[in-house]
Amino acid sequence: MHSSSSEPCRLSSGVTRAWYVVCPSWELKRQPLSRTLLGTPLVLFRGPDGKAAALLDRCAHRNVPLSLGRIVEQRLECCYHGWQYGPDGRCLRIPSLCGPADKEVRSVPRFAALEQDGFVWVYATADVEPNERPFVLPSLVNALCTPVAEFLTRIHAVISFRTRLPRWLVKLLLNPLALRIFKQDAFILKAQGQALRHRGVHPSPVASLRQARRAGTRPRRRTGPGTRARREGWRG
Ligand code: FES
Repeated sequence: MHSSSSEPCRLSSGVTRAWYVVCPSWELKRQPLSRTLLGTPLVLFRGPDGKAAALLDRCAHRNVPLSLGRIVEQRLECCYHGWQYGPDGRCLRIPSLCGPADKEVRSVPRFAALEQDGFVWVYATADVEPNERPFVLPSLVNALCTPVAEFLTRIHAVISFRTRLPRWLVKLLLNPLALRIFKQDAFILKAQGQALRHRGVHPSPVASLRQARRAGTRPRRRTGPGTRARREGWRG
């Protein structure tokens, strides 16, 4: 697949102009790794300089997942016909092809990737060089939420500290607190998911207005719980 339009390739939904954690750094070893972000399959691997790279997990030849392939001479090789890609998504080698392999139609959308705070971060819009870096994690206990699909979120738990106390002692003190925080985050995410499934997601007022204008009708009034509460004079 190849993004030939002037619009940059974006992941399917959600906040796409943002960095997300996709895996801890130790998980990304010599072979390609498959990850999903906002419903879109990605392949992660390390380029010739050892830096993390992320591409759309789909070969430009016949759409085979590149994560099924392997690293050959520091290039990502598709498991089917052996096309090889660099960390920028360009096709660098096609077996038995006389002539240059590097043509734009043979390239794969690439997502900016970097490592920070022990994690691999990926920017969720393809073929874009973001101006900002991921935020630096504050110390102590953090939970990083990565939207995998509409109702699936991966939580990465981070405990970071700097102290003269022995590590085992800090772990002993901090672990119960951290577990409590992570469990609470998981609980809240689950509750939010259930609420969304139950009530549905209201389109934004601007979006419904635009839609109504296009259709030449009046926009429908929102009938969510807040509106009903106001109509019936409920107090929060
Ligand atoms: S499908 Fe990847 S090289 Fe043919």
